[in-house]
Order: sequence, then structure tokens, then C-alpha cells
Amino acid sequence: MGFFSFARLGVALLTLLAARRVYWELTVGSQRRAFSTQHGCVPAHKKKTRLPFGLDMLLKDQKKFREYRVLEYIIEFFRDENAHTIDLRYVGQHIFVTDDPENIKTVLATDFGRWSIGVARIKWMGSFLGTGIFTSEGPVWKHSRETLRPCFERSQVSDISLLDKHTTRLIDSLSKDGSTVDLQPLIQDLTMDITSDFLFGISTDSLDKSKDDKHTKEFIKAFEYIMVPFDVENLGLWTVVEQLLPNRKLKKCTKILQDFADRIIDEEIAARKSSPSKPSRYVFLHELLDTVPDRIRIRSELLNIFLAGRDTTSALLSNVLWTLSRSPTIQSRLRREITSHIGDAVLPTFTQLKDMRYLKAIMNESQRLYPVVPSNTREALVDTTLPRGGGPDEQSPVFVPKGASITYHIVAMHRRVDVYGEDADVFEPARWMDGEHGSSPLRPGWGYLPFSGGPRVCIGQQFALTEAMFVVVRMLQTFPVLESRDSEPWTEKINITASNRNGCKVSLRMAE
Ligand code: HEM
Repeated sequence: MGFFSFARLGVALLTLLAARRVYWELTVGSQRRAFSTQHGCVPAHKKKTRLPFGLDMLLKDQKKFREYRVLEYIIEFFRDENAHTIDLRYVGQHIFVTDDPENIKTVLATDFGRWSIGVARIKWMGSFLGTGIFTSEGPVWKHSRETLRPCFERSQVSDISLLDKHTTRLIDSLSKDGSTVDLQPLIQDLTMDITSDFLFGISTDSLDKSKDDKHTKEFIKAFEYIMVPFDVENLGLWTVVEQLLPNRKLKKCTKILQDFADRIIDEEIAARKSSPSKPSRYVFLHELLDTVPDRIRIRSELLNIFLAGRDTTSALLSNVLWTLSRSPTIQSRLRREITSHIGDAVLPTFTQLKDMRYLKAIMNESQRLYPVVPSNTREALVDTTLPRGGGPDEQSPVFVPKGASITYHIVAMHRRVDVYGEDADVFEPARWMDGEHGSSPLRPGWGYLPFSGGPRVCIGQQFALTEAMFVVVRMLQTFPVLESRDSEPWTEKINITASNRNGCKVSLRMAE
């Protein structure tokens, strides 16, 4: 083909593209402008980028990842931009980022039906979890949620005996001579044993030293690899490309997760054959076996629940004990509350735990400063609006086109000075105690959201808090000395949850 033919082809292509653009402007574009005007929308603050496609932001994100300072960077980002809702173009995607409670409420609750959990999440998580409560929407999600809901009724959540059995195993396994113990991995075993016992009727029993926990260890390692299948310290542009290539280790790890869940199902089927009597409480796995004929679906639901119940509660519990170990004043006050509400040797009841205001304040404050799910994303299913963020004062609605995403940063919202005061970066449980901190009681509403909100609010919230509070009380009752053995600051380890990558290193002593 000669030069002129190439030139002609080029001109034809450009004309076609221009015509397509004109057509788009006259149809979709004009509809969107009309929609935006009708709703009084004004553009949001735009993040200026130096490189095309926001590549400079990607490079900066990667640098912060390598330094384990992504969360700190997110908090600073909103402060530096001096805005709460920001419009970004990021590697070919149109994303709004926000730490505005009104916008988050709209996406999660008021306009729930206009937003999806996003194709990326369904595809990525679905590839190793299968279809379950975390990876589905519409009727499939509704069915999962309805099957799970009875597990979390008060009568079930308030059953302390299950928590006690596993917590006693944890306490028995700890060194009590004052040597350094990292509580974090043990707490991860604990939450996994409790979640499996509570929801499947069969515990993974990884804290039971008489049992071989080879499969549990393998499962945990596989899960951790799937969440972050690259070396964080060598993260670079190449890593992005690498993630698109086939990965045999990823497949192997997915198989390990599936085999692990299959073993639980097989065990339950065998137990049913040998003893057909049903337990008195509602057990999620039993209900699934009775109502869902598809084995793969059952396995997927189990894996979805492990994701939900293990790392989350263990991160909270580990953070709380880490904080108590290095804050003698807060620890002493909590010890006094335990002594006055329960006593030092007696098992706490569900009601007593609920009545402990200072313990609850510590839980709140830990989740405020170190939210276990620090950020999350949704995708617009239709052209829609956010109620705030438009114009220089951010008080006007913002137009969001179908397909754009919103990333809401709970971690930044929990540090907002206008909501929490000038000491928003300080760990101060008293801010949650009416009349003890500041001139007016703290009522953050949607400005405090560790468990999300709206129809997809965390279904395990009450269970997680009861579990964490129970373990904290039992630990303090058992160990009059709980001291830190870690001089490092809290440092993030991020996958889809955030925990302290330095663990929870403490020294414990029993009474003489
Ligand atoms: C401190 C502990 C926990 C925290 C901070 C937490 C936080 C969250 C958050 C933020 C979500 C919303 C996710 C989203 O919409 O994308 C969520 C959903 C969920 N959580 Fe939790 N969670 C915790 C413990 C648990 C436990 C112990 C269980 C169950 C044993 C559980 C079960 C679930 C389930 C099933 C969902 C999905 C709900 C749905 O999509 O309908 N969570 N959790």
C-alpha cells in the first residue's frame, strides 16, 4: 500500500472517530448534560495530574505501598487537596474519591439500587471465593444474606459458652512467664476457630494442640498469597502487567482454599450420617446443606464467610490489645471497669459486656483510628448524583456518569477534624464518653462507619464486637500484667483489611 493510501485510511479513521464523538455528544452527552442541569449539579474538585492517565498517581501509590504508608497518604491526600470529594482520572478509570459522610450514606443506603459492588470485585474475589454473599448482588445476594441472618439473632450471638471454649484454649497456650509473645497469629487462629464453630458447627480447632493443624496453616498461607500475590517491597509498574499474566501459584492456592472448605462439608455430611440429630441452634452450614443442592455454591458461601469473619475480628482484637499494652492509664481504667461490672474471676455475660461503656469506647476508638476495612468501592449502575462535593464550597450535587466508581475512604473520614476535633489523630476513648471530652457529646452518625451501612451493612457486627470484648475481658482478668514488647509505631499491612504488620508483641504475667 502506498503512502497516499495510508494517509487516506488515516483520514477515514479520524473522520469515523470524530463522527462517533459527535454522535455521542448529541445523544448520551446531551442527555447527561440535561440530567446534570436538572439536578443542579456542579463539577467536583478535580485532582490535577502531571502525567497522562494519572500515571504519576499510580507511581506515588506504589511508592507508598512499598513504604507501608498508604493509609497515612490517604489521610494526608484529603487534607492537602482541601476537599472531601475529588474527581480523578486514574489509569483509564473515572473515579470519585470521598470522605464525606453524606455521599457515603447516599451510595450505601439512600441510592443503594443505583450502585453496584463493581465488576472488578465480583470478578477478582469470585475467582477464588466463588459466588457468595461478598461476590454477588440481586436475588443471589439476598438469598445468601437471608440464610445467614438467623445465625446473628441475639439468642445465638449471646451464647458465651462457645467463645469461652476457644478463648480458654488461647489463654492456656500462652507463655505466662513474662517472655515476649506475639498475640496476633494466635488471635487469627482464635477467630478462625470461633467463626467456623459458630457458623459451620465444626471448628477448625487450630488452637487445639492435640490436633494436627497442617491444613489450617496451608489455608491461611494460601489466603494471604491470593490477597497480595506480589512482593510489596518490589512493587513497580511491571507488577501491574504481571498481574494480568497467568499465575500457577494463584491457581494452586485457590485449590487449597476449595479443598479446605470441601473437607469441612465432607466432615459435616459424615457427621450427619453417623448422628442424624440436629443441634438446637441455627447453623449456617446445616441450613445450606438442607436448602442448596449445589455443592460448589455451598463451598463458595463457606469461603466468603471465612473472608468476612477471620481477619476482620482478629485485626480489631489485636489492635485493641496492642493499644492497651502500651497505654497503662487506659488499661488501668478498663481494669477498674471490669472489676466493678464483673469481678476478676467470673465469666462475663453478654449483658455485662454490653453495659461496659469504657470497653465499648475503646472498641470504637480502635476502629476509628485503625479501621479494619479502611476503604471500599462502588460503581454507578446508571447516571446518578452525589448530594455534595460540587463547587468551591462543595455544597452542590455532583453528576456521576454510569460506569464511574466511587472509592470511599473510611480511614480519612474517621480523622476529620471537623467531626472529631483538633485531636482527631490521638487515641482517646474518652471522646466516646458523654461529658468527658469536649463541650458536646460526640454524635458522628455516618461519619463513623467501621461496619459499613445500608442494606449491605456488616451482618456480623454484634458477633464481632461481643467476641472481641469477651476476649479482652478474659485476657485482662487472667493477666494482671499486660505490657508492650514493641517500640515500633502501628504500621499497616493491607490486603482487603488492614492490620498491624508488626503484630501484637506483649509480655504477660499471671498473679503471683
Ligand atoms: C471487627 C470485625 C468486622 C468488621 C470491621 C467488619 C466490617 C465489615 C464491612 C465494612 C462490611 C461491608 C463490606 C462491603 O460492603 O463491601 C462487612 C460486610 C460483611 N461482614 Fe463484616 N466485619 C467484621 C466482622 C464480621 C464477622 C465476624 C462476620 C461473620 C462471622 C462478618 C460478616 C460479614 C458479612 C457476611 C458481610 C457481607 C454483608 C453483605 O454484603 O450483605 N463480619 N463487614
